[in-house]
Amino acid sequence: MALEGELTRLREIREEDLPVFVELRNDLETQAWSRTLPPDYTLEMIRRRYWDRDFSYHRNDAIFIVEVKESCEVAGMMSYSGVVDRFEADWGLAIRKEFWGTGVSRDASDTMLRFLFHELGLRVVRLWTQSGNERAVATFEKLGFKVATRTPGAIFKGGRWVDNICMDLLREEWYALHPDLEDGLGDPIAR
Ligand SMILES: CC(C)(COP(=O)(O)OP(=O)(O)OC[C@H]1O[C@@H](n2cnc3c(N)ncnc32)[C@H](O)[C@@H]1OP(=O)(O)O)[C@@H](O)C(=O)NCCC(=O)NCCS
Repeated sequence: MALEGELTRLREIREEDLPVFVELRNDLETQAWSRTLPPDYTLEMIRRRYWDRDFSYHRNDAIFIVEVKESCEVAGMMSYSGVVDRFEADWGLAIRKEFWGTGVSRDASDTMLRFLFHELGLRVVRLWTQSGNERAVATFEKLGFKVATRTPGAIFKGGRWVDNICMDLLREEWYALHPDLEDGLGDPIAR
C-alpha cells in the first residue's frame, strides 16, 4: 500500500521508473548530493543499484517514487536511511525540475515526515544539503527544519566554496506543527 498524500503518493520503484533516476542523477541541479558526482550514470548502473536490494523485514531504509495522483506522472524520488529504532533517520529527496513550485514536493514531504514520526516513532529526522542550495534550504525551513550543524567552506560546488549543512526536525517540533495529531510515543508499558 502506497503512502497517500493529497496531491501525491509515495510508492515502490518499478522498472519503467528507472530512467527518471538516471535523469535526476545526471543533472547537476537535481542530483541532490553535496559533492558533484560525474553525470555519467547509465540505466544499467541504476538498475543494478535498485534491483540488488534484497527483500527484508528490516526498516533501516527505503526509496520511494513520488507519483502525482491525478496524472500518475513520476515527479521524483524520496528516501530515508540509517533508521535507528524510535530515534533517528536521514531523509533525502529529488524532484524533477518540471514539478518544482507545483506543491508536489511539499505534499510528498508532509507524507514522508508523517510516516517517519507517526508510524516509525522517530525522535529526529535529519537531512544534509549545502548552503548554495538556497531553494532546498528555504523548502526545508518551511517544513520546520533548522540548521543543526554547519561546516563552513567544506564543499566546492558551482564554482565556489559553500557550507555543508545538516538540518534537523525534532519530534516535538513536528507534532507542534500538526496539532490534529497526538504523540502517543510516551511510556509503552505505563498502566
Ligand atoms: C529542493 C526541492 C525538493 C524543493 O522543491 P520545490 O518544488 O522546488 O520547492 P517549492 O517550490 O515548494 O519551494 C521552494 C521555495 O524556495 C524559494 N526559493 C527558490 N529559490 C530560492 C533562493 N535562491 N533563495 C531562497 N529561496 C528560494 C521559493 O520561492 C519557494 O518558496 P515560496 O513557496 O515561499 O515561494 C527541489 O527543488 C529539488 O528536488 N531540488 C533538487 C534536489 C535537492 O536539492 N534535494 C534536496 C537537498 S539535497
